[in-house]
Amino acid sequence: MHKKTVSDIDVNGKKVLVRVDFNVPLDEHQNITNNTRINAALPTINYLLEHNAAVILMSHLGRPKGEVKPSLSLKPVAKLLEKITGKKVYFVHDCIGDDVKQAAKNLKPGEILLLENTRFHPEEKKNDPKFAKELASLADVFVNEAFGTAHRAHASNVGVAEYLPSTVGFLIEKEIEYLNKALLNPEKPYTAILGGVKVSDKIDLIQKLLEKADSILIGGAMMFTFLKALGFSVGKSLVEEDKIPAALEIMEQAKERCVNLYLPEDTVVAKEMEEDTEFHSVPVDAIPDDMIGLDIGILTVRKYTEIIKPSKTVIWNGPMGMFEISSFSHGTKGIARAVAACSGITIIGGGDSAAAIEKFGFADKVSHISTGGGASLEYLSGKELPGIAVIPDK
Ligand code: 3PG
Repeated sequence: MHKKTVSDIDVNGKKVLVRVDFNVPLDEHQNITNNTRINAALPTINYLLEHNAAVILMSHLGRPKGEVKPSLSLKPVAKLLEKITGKKVYFVHDCIGDDVKQAAKNLKPGEILLLENTRFHPEEKKNDPKFAKELASLADVFVNEAFGTAHRAHASNVGVAEYLPSTVGFLIEKEIEYLNKALLNPEKPYTAILGGVKVSDKIDLIQKLLEKADSILIGGAMMFTFLKALGFSVGKSLVEEDKIPAALEIMEQAKERCVNLYLPEDTVVAKEMEEDTEFHSVPVDAIPDDMIGLDIGILTVRKYTEIIKPSKTVIWNGPMGMFEISSFSHGTKGIARAVAACSGITIIGGGDSAAAIEKFGFADKVSHISTGGGASLEYLSGKELPGIAVIPDK
C-alpha cells in the first residue's frame, strides 16, 4: 500500500491515538453479539503495545445523533476488549475534556485507554476542526484503523489527521490489499455476485464491475427491478420503479461490453414475509400476482454455482434473499456454499453478506471478509475513501 502504515513510524514511548471501528452489534441488554470488528483491530493494538506505545482507542457506536445515549456507550466494548486482550482497559466517560486529558496523560506505554462514543458530540459528524484538535491533543501520533468508517469524513477519522503525524493500521492495509485484487487486476474469470434490496445502492458498483467482470450474477430483491424492466410481472415483489431505466441501461451496457449479466430463473414466493408462512418456488415468468419474491430458487442456485466454481476471482455483495427468515435463506446459503467451495480469491463485502457467510458457517472458507459494508461498496465502486485519502503517502 502506498499510504504510511503503522510500521513506518516510531511509536516507542509515544501516545498513539487509534481510530477503530467498534460499531458492533448489540442486543437489548447491551451484550455484543459479534466481535469481528474488535478482533480485526487486534493486530494493530498488539503491535503498538509490543512497541512500547500507550494506546488510546476511539470509535463511534450506532447513530446517537450528537447526544449522549447510555444505550450506545462503548463501556461494554471496554469490558470485552479487556477479556480478549487479557489486559486492563481503562475507560473514560467522554472523548474530550479535562478528565479525558488527565486519563491520557496518566496512560503509560503498554496500556490501553478507550474513549467514549465520539458521536455523542455533534461536532464529530460535522468534522469540526476544534473538536478534531481536542482529540488530537491527547496523543503524539494518529493511526486510522477504522476501515468500516473510512467512507465518512468525520472529525475522529479525517479531521484529527490534520493535527498529528498519521498512518493507517494493518486492518486498513489488508482490506485495501484484498479489495484491490478485485478492483485493479482481477484474475479471470472474474465473477461478481450482487444482491440486496435496492438497485439504487449498487448502480455505481455495477458500472465499475462492467469494466472488469466476466459475469455478474443478480439476486436479492433488486432482481425484481431488472425483471420488471424486461417486462415480467413480479407480483407484489419489491420494485424500484424509478430505477427501471437504469436497470435497462445496465443490461444494455453489459451486452455491449460482453459481460454476462445473469438474472435468476426461479424465485421463492410467499404471501407474507413471515417465518411460518407457506412458500414455494416458481419460474420468474410465473410469479403470482398476490405473491412476493423473497429468495432465489434452487435452479438459480445451481446455475450460479456452476459459474462461481471455475472463477479465479469472486466478489459477493448483498444477500440473495431474506436470509434472516429460514424459509427464504436457502438461496443465500447455497451461494455462500458455492463461494466457500471456489478455489479462487473470494472476497465478501461487509454488512449483510458478511453476516450471511458467518451465519452459515463458511467464514473460514473465503479469502477475505470486509469489515466495512458501506466502505467496501464505495471503494469497489471506484470512489476515494476520505479516511484513507487523508493519510500521507509513504
Ligand atoms: C458501519 O457500520 O457501516 C460503519 O461503522 C459506519 O457506520 P455509519 O453508517 O453509521 O456511519
